[in-house]
Amino acid sequence: MFSDDDAAAMYDILNPWGPGRPREEGFYLPLIMAAESVLDVGCGTGAMLRVARERGHRGRLTGLDPDRAALRRARARADVTWVEGIAADAERGAGHDLVTMTGHAFQDLVTDEDVRGSLAAIHAALRPGGRFAFETRHPQARAWETWTRTNPADEVAFSDGNGRDLRYWHEVDSVDGDVVAFHGTVAAPDGRVLRVLTETVRFLDVPALNALLAAAGFTIEGQYGDWERGPITASSREIITVARRAGRADTAERARTIVG
Ligand SMILES: C[S@@+](CC[C@H](N)C(=O)[O-])C[C@H]1O[C@@H](n2cnc3c(N)ncnc32)[C@H](O)[C@@H]1O
Repeated sequence: MFSDDDAAAMYDILNPWGPGRPREEGFYLPLIMAAESVLDVGCGTGAMLRVARERGHRGRLTGLDPDRAALRRARARADVTWVEGIAADAERGAGHDLVTMTGHAFQDLVTDEDVRGSLAAIHAALRPGGRFAFETRHPQARAWETWTRTNPADEVAFSDGNGRDLRYWHEVDSVDGDVVAFHGTVAAPDGRVLRVLTETVRFLDVPALNALLAAAGFTIEGQYGDWERGPITASSREIITVARRAGRADTAERARTIVG
């Protein structure tokens, strides 16, 4: 009644890259356009890399995601490499200048083991001096408390690609420490439930996140509370991080600066 392909199409309708997310695009696209080789981990339907190509990116663009239906949509664009897999599968030694993880995909890494395995692979997929840019919702904003049908802003009505009128809303199933399990319900206008989509996400705070990054060999180049690169404050809803893989390229840059 509501297939995986329908769910992937719904994601693009409800979370359109660009018009629906201009502040995110304003943050990530300049980083992407300035990098010769980019890996987007958790690329989903691939909208961000598609836009980068449309805006004239001529280098190597690779999207990685475990969701086959999302990748089927992404593959409509053949001039980007699409790879099925999780972050921990990122190709070691690929020498990317930039790895991104957008749309809170990082929060799908729910255990320390997931985070460590993913960060190790991302680190190894970057060239020395390369950057990892991603965001995670700040736990202090307690975003999950808005994921309820009693919040009028949470329930949306939309038409799918086949002209069907549908409704979609969220409900939280459990909050266990920093891990939140929730589900989204897709229903017909008469309330008939067509599909329930479950998800579990983790809300790491700044010290825990930075400890995991440091242990994986990253240094923090910048960490922001909003898409305009403002500082993280007591009211920030996001932790937006640009981390750098230390290594030979950094050392070479430093040596050039000292000699120059
Ligand atoms: C909320 S979507 C974000 C999609 C896209 N990056 C965006 O900005 O719209 C999260 C994506 O992360 C993917 N994902 C889940 N677990 C993952 C993992 N362990 N490694 C990489 N991607 C993962 C999901 O399949 C999904 O496509």
